[in-house]
Amino acid sequence: MHFQMIESGERNMIININPYMPAYPVEPEYFAGRKQILAALREALQYTAHAKAINVVIVGEWGIGKTALVLKAQEISKKEYDAISFIVDVQSGQTSQAVLEVIIQKFFIQIQREYPSLALSSGDVREINAPRLDKIIQQVREGHANSVPLFESNLINLWDIIATKGRIVLIMVDNLEFLGKKELNETVETVRNVFQALPRSGCKIMIILSGKRVFYDTSAKLYSPTTRFFRRVALETFSMEESLEAIILPLKNTSGFEFSKEAMHEIHRLSQGHPYILKSLCFLIFKELNGKGKVSKKRLEKLMPLLIEELGKDVFEAMLERASFEERKILFAIAKSENEILSFSEIRTLANMSKRGTHLSRLIEKELVTRNSRGRYSLFHPLFREYLNRGKKSMPGSK
Ligand SMILES: Nc1ncnc2c1ncn2[C@@H]1O[C@H](COP(=O)(O)OP(=O)(O)O)[C@@H](O)[C@H]1O
Ligand SMILES: [Mg+2]
Repeated sequence: MHFQMIESGERNMIININPYMPAYPVEPEYFAGRKQILAALREALQYTAHAKAINVVIVGEWGIGKTALVLKAQEISKKEYDAISFIVDVQSGQTSQAVLEVIIQKFFIQIQREYPSLALSSGDVREINAPRLDKIIQQVREGHANSVPLFESNLINLWDIIATKGRIVLIMVDNLEFLGKKELNETVETVRNVFQALPRSGCKIMIILSGKRVFYDTSAKLYSPTTRFFRRVALETFSMEESLEAIILPLKNTSGFEFSKEAMHEIHRLSQGHPYILKSLCFLIFKELNGKGKVSKKRLEKLMPLLIEELGKDVFEAMLERASFEERKILFAIAKSENEILSFSEIRTLANMSKRGTHLSRLIEKELVTRNSRGRYSLFHPLFREYLNRGKKSMPGSK
């Protein structure tokens, strides 16, 4: 059993740790499925080890597993290639320049961490490289380490320090959607220009960029050179098999708690294989049952109203808060309709919406409404629909 002693004053409490924490990125050990994607990543790493880096872009909606994949890639790169790696987490409103600077800073810090003697005291290497490093740091401080040639020469200089160590470098940049459109385009373009040139200098450096779908599809036309330069990984919801794995793996270190096969199938159906929602459901079930017993489909069905309620508090409430008053009216109207999938004109009639459908576009941007390939619309998730129909939250403006 996975127990943890919690010391609280005089008492020692033993609690059964919930292994499904949805807010935490999955531990690489519990990473489920995505077999073909992992194979593609391994191939990219292999090419990188031969100084022919393949760079990767990961795209996918909220909660689909981008960060989980980034962490898994890091684990693989360490275990199988002894890579030097680091993750840059893009912050909301950051400039492209700031992102590039953080890449250089983190690279520098990572080298220092792994080779403390090298950068700090080891005589000869330091003598060769210290002036360059000082220059890099000065550039970073002065805020002009971003220009394309400088960014490139900084990467090469840092690479040169470790070139003889026989290792590869994996740089990961996550949450790129936090950048504004202009900054995003600038970042992606610079990364492309610079990383395209790196192999010529013998650098075994690979980069993975990760962000929501918007980042790619609106920032670059599908056949631009950018698209061809990056290998694109589009994350989708879990297949049934992947869902089962995601449910079962975290129970590896737990005993006394299990799901029946039918219950797991039901969780897959209810969550539609959406990783965040699937994990949240499992988390809430585990919590509700104190991590004990076997969950049958019947037991799950009984729990459902409570689970919807809790899911609402944990997930949907915050999402709903993103919508404006007018947008909420549309959400509730869609939820109330008999059909889950609607055409634009149907929604317009139901919600009394303007012809231009600006609010609907906003809802898509906010990931509350999905537009399918045939131009039809639905709420982003059926459980969100159930949540809206719970009746507790009445439609704004109506009784
Ligand atoms: N391949 C996977 N295996 C197991 N759990 C996953 C997997 N992908 C995502 N998850 C879980 O789904 C949730 C959302 O994943 P996350 O990587 O944070 O999504 P994103 O970064 O795309 O918003 C997390 O709780 C994570 O544990
Ligand atoms: Mg993430």
